[in-house]
Amino acid sequence: MLGSPNCGGPAGARQRLHQASVDPREALEHDRKGGSVLGANIVDILLKLLFWLHLMGLAAGLGGGIALGFVGPKLIAAEGPMLEEMWRFERFFGRVGSAGFGILIITGPLMLWLKFGGPDGLTWWFWAKMVFVAIALAGIVTHQWAGSRFHRGDRSAIPLMFVSGRAAGASMALAVLCAVFTFS
Ligand code: HEM
Repeated sequence: MLGSPNCGGPAGARQRLHQASVDPREALEHDRKGGSVLGANIVDILLKLLFWLHLMGLAAGLGGGIALGFVGPKLIAAEGPMLEEMWRFERFFGRVGSAGFGILIITGPLMLWLKFGGPDGLTWWFWAKMVFVAIALAGIVTHQWAGSRFHRGDRSAIPLMFVSGRAAGASMALAVLCAVFTFS
């Protein structure tokens, strides 16, 4: 039934999805390959949009991080009005980077679920990627915490800002490496 060219449109698709004889995953796969189980390839389009968002998140996450690596040394050397100016840059690029990372960890699990039906069957590269994602998250949270301590005048937070920022950046780069070995 799933292989027939005319599947009866979205209403028929929903009906078939509720029939015990149709495996929903098979139906979604059929839809992705050009069928019409859920309408005009809706899952396929959604997956492409999610992947696009994933890559945009990657660009914002890494871009924000690189900019922070440039602003950081200027921030700690700045005084007076320049300090406030640098702090504004720090906050702006920090938000860009965190938003990018947020997009990655929202779109990633959605793609994993919709495209692969979960992590089963993926190689250990996927789990290595998840470890680096977790380290990057810890680095970002620590960097923000250390940054707000610095903003309150605590200069002893500077080394932690540097270490956590670099750990987050390196972990994201390694997560990309693992992603390529997992999915390409
Ligand atoms: C630091 C966070 C992350 C980075 C830097 C990242 C990076 C990437 C990159 C570069 C790709 C493309 C790989 C390729 O096609 O060769 C990718 C794909 C993918 N990522 Fe992530 N990712 C992150 C977080 C996550 C998370 C948390 C999950 C899920 C739990 C996830 C799930 C996926 C999936 C399912 C794909 C394959 C998409 C497809 O083939 O259509 N990602 N990721």
